[in-house]
Amino acid sequence: MSKNEFTVAQLLDRVNTVRVAEGNPRVRALVARVVSDLFKTIDEMDVTPDEFWAATDWLSRLGASGQMGLITAGLGFDRLLDIKLDEADAQAGRAAGTPRAIEGPLYVPGAPLSKGEAWLSEDSPSKGEVFVMEGRVLDIDGKPVANALMDVWHANEVGGYSHFFPGLKEFELRRKIETDAQGRYRFRSVLPPGYAIPPNSPTSELFDALGRHGHRPAHVHFFIVAPGLRTLTTQINVPGDTYLDDDFAFATRDGLVIDLKRIAAPAGYESLGIAAGTQVALSTFDFVMQKARDDDEASPLTRMARVATA
Ligand SMILES: [Fe+2]
Repeated sequence: MSKNEFTVAQLLDRVNTVRVAEGNPRVRALVARVVSDLFKTIDEMDVTPDEFWAATDWLSRLGASGQMGLITAGLGFDRLLDIKLDEADAQAGRAAGTPRAIEGPLYVPGAPLSKGEAWLSEDSPSKGEVFVMEGRVLDIDGKPVANALMDVWHANEVGGYSHFFPGLKEFELRRKIETDAQGRYRFRSVLPPGYAIPPNSPTSELFDALGRHGHRPAHVHFFIVAPGLRTLTTQINVPGDTYLDDDFAFATRDGLVIDLKRIAAPAGYESLGIAAGTQVALSTFDFVMQKARDDDEASPLTRMARVATA
C-alpha cells in the first residue's frame, strides 16, 4: 500500500492524527472536528476549487479588516454563547437578575472614571436628544451595590465608536462610573440611533450574498464589575427602533428595552450640564447582579481581555 496516495478518508485520518508531540489535546480534538465537518461539507455540497479559494481569500480579507467580531455576532455565535450560559444558569437554578447580552467587539478599557455620574458626550460634538439614564446597581436580594464599576459605551449619530471610527476623541461616548453608597449611577449622553455594518467590506460582502441586512437597533453597552458579584455584560435597547426585533446580531432581549420618558428636566441635574426645564429623554433602570460562585465569575476582565491574558 502506498504511503503517499490517499483516499479522502485516509487523508482526513492523517490530518487529524499525525503529530510529533502531544500538543494541546483540546485544540487537537476541536480542530479534528472542524476539519472533519469541512471535509464533509466540501464532499456533500460539491464545493469547487474556485469556491474554496474564494472563501479562503474572504477569510484573509476579513482577518485583515478587523471585522471578525461582526461576523461572529451576525452569524449568531455571540448569542449562542449567551444562550448556553443562560441554559446552564437555568439548570443550576440561578436564572435571575438582569439578562446578559453580547459584548460586541468594540469595548475599550481605560475610559475616564468618575463617582456616581458621568457625562459621556461632554467632549463630543455628537448630535441627538439629550439622554439621561439613571438607577441603581442591586444584588439579587435587592441590596444596593456601592462601588460597582460600570463601563458604558455607545456609538455616535452615524454609528461610529471612538477608537474604531475616524475623527472621534479617544474615549468619546465612553465612561466608567463608580456607583455611590446607595448603589446609584446616572449619566448624560446623546440618545444613539442604530447603525449598520460597514458597506463595501468583507462583512457586507457576506451579508449581501446571504440576502441579509446588517442593521443593529439603537443600543448602549454596559460592563459592570463588583466584588463578590458575577460580572455583568449587557446592553439596553432604545424603544421604537425599526430593527428592535430584527437585530442583525440577534442581541435584543426581553427586559433590556428601556422605558423612555420625554420630559422637561426637573432641578437636580445641573452637574450634568442640564438646566431645569431642558427637554430630556429620561430612563430609569436598575441593574441586578447575581452573586458570584467564584473569583472567575467576578473577573474584571472583558471577553477579549480574558483570552488575551490566558
Ligand atoms: Fe454596539
